[in-house]
Amino acid sequence: MAKLQAIRGMNDILPAQTPLWQAVEQAFHRVVRRFGYQEIRFPVLEQTQLFKRAVGEVTDIVEKEMYSFDDRNGDNLSLRPEGTAGCVRAADQHGLLYNQQQRLWYQGPMFRHERPQKGRYRQFQQFGVEAFGMAGPDIDAELILLSADLWRELDIASALTLQINNIGASAERRAYGEALTAYLEQHREQLDSDALNRLYSNPLRILDSKNPDMQALLAAAPRLADYVSAESVGHFEALQTLLTDGGIAFEVNPRLVRGLDYYNNCVFEWVTDSLGAQGTVCGGGRYDGLVEQLGGKPTVAAGFAMGAERLVLMLETLGKEPPMPKPAAYIVVGNGVSREAQALAMALRAALPSQGILCHCGGGKPASQLKRAFALGARYALVLEADSCNAGELKIRQLDDDGNELRVSLAEAPARLAALLD
Ligand code: HAM
Repeated sequence: MAKLQAIRGMNDILPAQTPLWQAVEQAFHRVVRRFGYQEIRFPVLEQTQLFKRAVGEVTDIVEKEMYSFDDRNGDNLSLRPEGTAGCVRAADQHGLLYNQQQRLWYQGPMFRHERPQKGRYRQFQQFGVEAFGMAGPDIDAELILLSADLWRELDIASALTLQINNIGASAERRAYGEALTAYLEQHREQLDSDALNRLYSNPLRILDSKNPDMQALLAAAPRLADYVSAESVGHFEALQTLLTDGGIAFEVNPRLVRGLDYYNNCVFEWVTDSLGAQGTVCGGGRYDGLVEQLGGKPTVAAGFAMGAERLVLMLETLGKEPPMPKPAAYIVVGNGVSREAQALAMALRAALPSQGILCHCGGGKPASQLKRAFALGARYALVLEADSCNAGELKIRQLDDDGNELRVSLAEAPARLAALLD
């Protein structure tokens, strides 16, 4: 029978890769703790309606990419394509938002039925941060400083560039969208199929077209910056001052519009050219209208999410992988001493709780057990054989260097190993 395979675009993360994943996760946890954010967890399945209302009916995510189905009760549900909608739903449902400030973070799998390629998958992992109840540019700056702190932790800051833009309020964007459509209609014969598809439904998305011909056409198009209010311009300028104060370099990219409908005013992305086509590692911005749009009391908000796969790929590409953790000791178990070996292993684990201690299981010759210890990269083999064990002794053999060997008593073994590992 043919073996079953994983679903295309959904990756297994194998033991050789998990240390790198853990390094990224731990760095993110350190940074959010440092900034005083609290973790929130919410389901991977929600009512489809939530994402339609939050992300927007005419976005690629909702139109083409959601994993939606009717469950056994006939409810239409979707695997979450992103975290903001579920985070807002959960925080509002449990009364965390009204008249309060919240700084929240989450991590977990998201699902989008996109065409898989390097850095773009159908199940991917996001780290996200959402801040509620703070209207000023100070919180926008804090979010960006938080992300920049993570780049420093991971030592990838020099490979990332920050792009920011002011997309104004939704009424302003609508007025601008109409002006943009009117301009593009005059050049209809030059539009590519993507632009034609979006001409009426979502003209702003044409701005981030990768097609050079579209970009040339857009050079003379009306500018979004001319349609946004003086108030949001003031907010955006204040954000830029705060970023400069914080030592964060940025580029204002007037074409940056983001692919989700809930944003207003400041939006941002961190991009890299070390990943090829999927160069956006992190994206976010303000979404002051979303809580109300989902049925809550008006609550201003801002946040971002980053793709863990893209961070892992960056660390690999830039050669920043952490060393593979190796066991400190491998206990080679002679015939008839497995009980003593298990007791020794537990004593070593109690004495050295942060070290890896493996105890051989399944029998076999000491020589083949030693081979396994070498293959795993253990630093020491603790060889426990029947005759020495009866005499209350074992051998400690150094594996990662010159093969030194010493005999120690069973009782002393934890302290001797601890001293050797120091
Ligand atoms: P987004 O830009 O759709 O925003 O996704 C954020 C990040 O997730 C992207 O920058 C990218 O690194 C990663 N990502 C997105 N799609 C994929 C994919 N198919 N494969 C691998 N990685 C991917 C959001 O999701 C918003 N919820 C961010 C946000 C939070 N805005 C405010 N708060």
